[in-house]
Amino acid sequence: MDKNKIIVFDTTLRDGEQSPGASMNTEEKIQIALQLERLGVDVMEAGFAAASSGDFDAINQIAKQVSNIRVASLARALQNDIKAAGEAIAPAKNKRIHTFIATSPIHMEHKLKMTPDQVIKKAVEAVSYAKTFVDDVEFSCEDAGRSDIVFLKEICAAVVEAGARTLNLPDTVGFRLPNEIAVMIKEMVDFIGDRAIISVHNHNDLGLAVANTLASVQAGARQVECTINGLGERAGNAALEEIVMAIRTRNDVFAPLYTDIVTKEIYATSRLVASITGIEPQPNKAIVGKNAFAHESGIHQDGVLKCAQTYEIIKAEDIGAEKNSLVLGKHSGRHAFKDKLINLGFDLDNDELNDAFIKFKDLCDKKKEIFDDDIRALVSSEITKVPQIYDIEKLSTSSCNAGHASAAISIKFEDEIIQDAALGNGTADAIFKVIDRISGVNGELKDYKVGAVSQGKDALAKVTVKVAFENSVPTIGHGLDIDTMLASAKAYIGALNSYLSMKNK
Ligand code: KIV
Ligand code: ZN
Repeated sequence: MDKNKIIVFDTTLRDGEQSPGASMNTEEKIQIALQLERLGVDVMEAGFAAASSGDFDAINQIAKQVSNIRVASLARALQNDIKAAGEAIAPAKNKRIHTFIATSPIHMEHKLKMTPDQVIKKAVEAVSYAKTFVDDVEFSCEDAGRSDIVFLKEICAAVVEAGARTLNLPDTVGFRLPNEIAVMIKEMVDFIGDRAIISVHNHNDLGLAVANTLASVQAGARQVECTINGLGERAGNAALEEIVMAIRTRNDVFAPLYTDIVTKEIYATSRLVASITGIEPQPNKAIVGKNAFAHESGIHQDGVLKCAQTYEIIKAEDIGAEKNSLVLGKHSGRHAFKDKLINLGFDLDNDELNDAFIKFKDLCDKKKEIFDDDIRALVSSEITKVPQIYDIEKLSTSSCNAGHASAAISIKFEDEIIQDAALGNGTADAIFKVIDRISGVNGELKDYKVGAVSQGKDALAKVTVKVAFENSVPTIGHGLDIDTMLASAKAYIGALNSYLSMKNK
């Protein structure tokens, strides 16, 4: 084990998915997993196998499809959880079970209702049982940030004895300051020595997750747990892209420490996660925000033109964020289109490429200028699409400032075309009502987001909806079209198809 290497443990598919509104279907998770592998992540937490059969299935599929990346599943310190985790990750070449139990007084007393000794016993049993499935077991002391250091040492020594090789010390509620975390990590690193790798997992409740992670690395932690775009429970987790670029950009401070992240894949990964989850990073978000490389003030623009380093510490190219250049057009051929996709980090099989090319040509007929972001949106909607149980054939809508908005729609279902129309409180409402009536499945709209993919009056509209059908867990649907209402209909049908395909499993 190289002592200077920082192991990057990505938990976008587990803790990231715990962001309100970020749930993903299996196909979407697989796409993100494959991209995380291209990004060079060392360990990918693919989910929480015992949470649901959908989670189990997604982890299992990912374990079958990735090559070398280490696939982890989270498990509470419970036999059933650990068994599910072990079975879900079984097909992976490199695998890990990540088991945890809370160690802070407040969690042990109020949540677990267990004494510290009972917690240690449970932790040791969990690690020993996990070792019957895999060699690589990680143990987390949930809420380590508010745990007693003497107890942390006691429980960590016990689980190391039982076979844990990574000890994760999460600041679960994002409470600690960088100097405080550094003291805790240093003390644990000194105590554990070579017996295990010390890992950190910081939440961002006070906006300090990345700062705390970097302070921990300087104090001796050699695994960082993080997510793309900083997604995660509540205010999120430490953002992978910020940690990695800080270590790289401030090489003067961090050397000889390094990560194996392929930084040129950062932007593509961020865009994929944003487009699948429908959660866009804030425009001024470090590294991947829309404005991260934009210079607005004249003084800055002048400086950058004279010498880029006057105001730029990172080049957009370093993270693979080329200028949003005008790309292909209606005369571009299949070959140029394929080259462009490779350039943007997409790896499509022949059928996917054909479908994407047809959609691209279709878009060229409607939109004058096609940008990289248009192509990214188009292709990610192609590769993450769910089975088309219902498909839109035609849509016409009318809206007015007095009177009724209406939608008439033709939908294909099992080789049959079904037509119907409805009135609504606004056009989108009319569309959703008529789709509910045709399918006979009632949906409650929980969230509706619309945004322009690139630039221009004819920009593609991207609509993301979250719908709870038949009072079930909400599913997400995405729709992409020049026409916002058609994009809304596609998104709603996408969420419906996703719900039905999960229900029919
Ligand atoms: O924040 C946390 O404590 C966690 C653990 C389950 C690792 O996510
Ligand atoms: Zn967490």
